[in-house]
Amino acid sequence: MKLIVCKDYDEMSAKAFEVMKEVVTSKPDVVLGLATGSSPVGLYQCMVKDHEDNGTSYKNVRTYNLDEYVGIDRNDPQSYYTFMKENLFDHVDIDPANTHVPYGNCKEDCEAYEKELDKVSIDLQLLGIGRNGHIGFNEPGTPFEELTHIVDLTPSTIEANARFFDNDMNKVPKQAISMGIGTIMKSKKILMVVSGTDKAEAVKGMVEGPVTTDMPASVLQNHPDVTVVVDEAAASLLSK
Ligand code: GLP
Repeated sequence: MKLIVCKDYDEMSAKAFEVMKEVVTSKPDVVLGLATGSSPVGLYQCMVKDHEDNGTSYKNVRTYNLDEYVGIDRNDPQSYYTFMKENLFDHVDIDPANTHVPYGNCKEDCEAYEKELDKVSIDLQLLGIGRNGHIGFNEPGTPFEELTHIVDLTPSTIEANARFFDNDMNKVPKQAISMGIGTIMKSKKILMVVSGTDKAEAVKGMVEGPVTTDMPASVLQNHPDVTVVVDEAAASLLSK
């Protein structure tokens, strides 16, 4: 696991963009696994700026998102589908037909998404991390071999995400559809962005702790090509 410690969020986003750009320009039909949340927003802004300034093209890029809330309309302002359009897809030359965000509420929907993923091989999977160490929406206790599945969100995640729902926990969806850890681990390369003190505990567990389902991100210690870009606040509990 390669760890890059940056001064702050902006430097983290710029560093992560360097990794992303190398992959995106390595071949025209690159396959990206994408993530939502506040962590990758700065990286997406760098990608948009680079597209505008340097013409980096996403014409043949295919994307597969990690997760989506259950029971939320695709075009709801808080859906991850809307998030991706607003933060990336609408601002680059990607073909909407090449973008995929999971959607649904049952086993069949999960299997259908996994079938789509089976047709490709993700070159780079972008990840954030939850305060409890979740990746995608794989909450503590999720078996490492799990594929795309329906998740019951933990109270800690519902609380963390209430900021997007008028700070009202009752408005936060209670379930999500998420790539599993088994799905995530298949990708050739993983890029994680993390910022802020509220993630420091999770970063410590992921990097220095034992590999355990209690800390889902610790599984990344078993992946051969992981780059974690953190800011100083998120790195503050690391022992070295
Ligand atoms: C959400 C998402 C994750 C994301 C995490 C952190 O629940 N499902 O994919 O990495 O929480 O979000 P943020 O970057 O906003 O802190």
